[in-house]
Amino acid sequence: MTDDHSRYRDHVATLRQRYDNALEQCRLDAVVLAAGQPHGIFLDDQHLPFKPNPHLLQWGPLREHPGSVLIVRAGEVPRLLVYTPTDFWHEIPPVPDEFAVGELQVEAVSNAGDIAAAVRQIAGQCAGAIAFIGETTPATDTCGINRINPDDLLAVLNEFRTVKTDWEIDNLRAASHMGVKGHLAAREAFRGGGTEYEIQLAFRTACNATDDEMPYPAIVALNEHAATLHYQRLDRERRPNLSLLIDAGHAVNGYASDITRTHSDDAEFGALIEAMHELQRDLCTAALPGVNYRELHHAAHLAIAALLGEAGLITVAPEDAVEAGISRTFFPHGLGHFLGLQVHDVGALYTRREPGSTVPEGEDKYLRLTRTLEAGNVLTIEPGIYFIESLLNDLRGKPAAGMIDWARVDALRPFGGIRIEDNLCITGDGHENLTRRAFSALDTEMSA
Ligand code: GLY
Ligand code: MN
Ligand code: MN
Repeated sequence: MTDDHSRYRDHVATLRQRYDNALEQCRLDAVVLAAGQPHGIFLDDQHLPFKPNPHLLQWGPLREHPGSVLIVRAGEVPRLLVYTPTDFWHEIPPVPDEFAVGELQVEAVSNAGDIAAAVRQIAGQCAGAIAFIGETTPATDTCGINRINPDDLLAVLNEFRTVKTDWEIDNLRAASHMGVKGHLAAREAFRGGGTEYEIQLAFRTACNATDDEMPYPAIVALNEHAATLHYQRLDRERRPNLSLLIDAGHAVNGYASDITRTHSDDAEFGALIEAMHELQRDLCTAALPGVNYRELHHAAHLAIAALLGEAGLITVAPEDAVEAGISRTFFPHGLGHFLGLQVHDVGALYTRREPGSTVPEGEDKYLRLTRTLEAGNVLTIEPGIYFIESLLNDLRGKPAAGMIDWARVDALRPFGGIRIEDNLCITGDGHENLTRRAFSALDTEMSA
């Protein structure tokens, strides 16, 4: 057992309190968290990579045991039934160390019918006051439980997940640290003239991760490909490397990092990247407890419009550019999102807690976080500027087209775009920048 098991113990103690509270609020005696099953491929006998139910994963890193369940009853030690079938086709991994700490009652069960029977027995004892949380397919046996993924319970549990425990923050910090190792290797590969495929390989090799172990497919975009926000092709073609936008992270015990850096050796575009770093750092500085994230998103638009002016891309004042929608042509996505077991983590829309407030729509429809920040929140700050063909074409037909220096746009278009993305943990009186902290520790150029 390593030192951090005390953090894990505290984490489980916190989860038990939270679940007791949630069960009481929802008038339940118990909840069953089902890991789920890998998805089969149409007309094939293969399966897609298994992604476990994050509500179960929060109790410990059970990433490789489909068919398992955790039974949580108010006031009792939760019971984890780990499905360990006899299988001569696949290696069944051992139960992870965390579960040997004794915070959960753990049983390895080789027969799926025994797991179903155990759940049925509990369901019978709870006489309807039991819920099932997990993915359901026509093949799913919910073992007599008919409250499946109830909205009220999910809302309470999602809300709890927005405040990370110390063990969760340790994992997120470690995920940032490993992700930054990958980013430094990717930067070297870019400078060495690597293709997109080779750059992602450098990233994954430095992180020691398979594709399936990454929290999301790496976005590795050279040159004009950076204008596609979630570019996924991983080109093998070797071309002059004008710029690289890499958005890639690592996961530790299921907790993700989500980091973007943009690089270029071109003096002019390099200066724009540096200016974006400064803008992004200012936004990070403003991410404090009590700050409304929607307002930070609007502040980002004004700052980006100011930068577009400084770069000679627009010819009007920042306020006018935002008013005319031009900042959204160059920065069409949200400023960021919560981060945790899911890259776009749950509970991020204020509406869940504030009846009467509205979900983002219209010009803010891609904003994934609208809450007032509080200690324990972990989130991203990821402003950008992109030269997106379709959005620029839309703008050309509008009166606001006169506010753009199109020759300047054409000059920068081959570089695709810039995004700088850090992961922040909000503390009681400020925040910890998990990403820049890792760059400071690992990057000998200190160019974070
Ligand atoms: N990597 C996806 C995102 O930044 O939200
Ligand atoms: Mn992100
Ligand atoms: Mn990202």
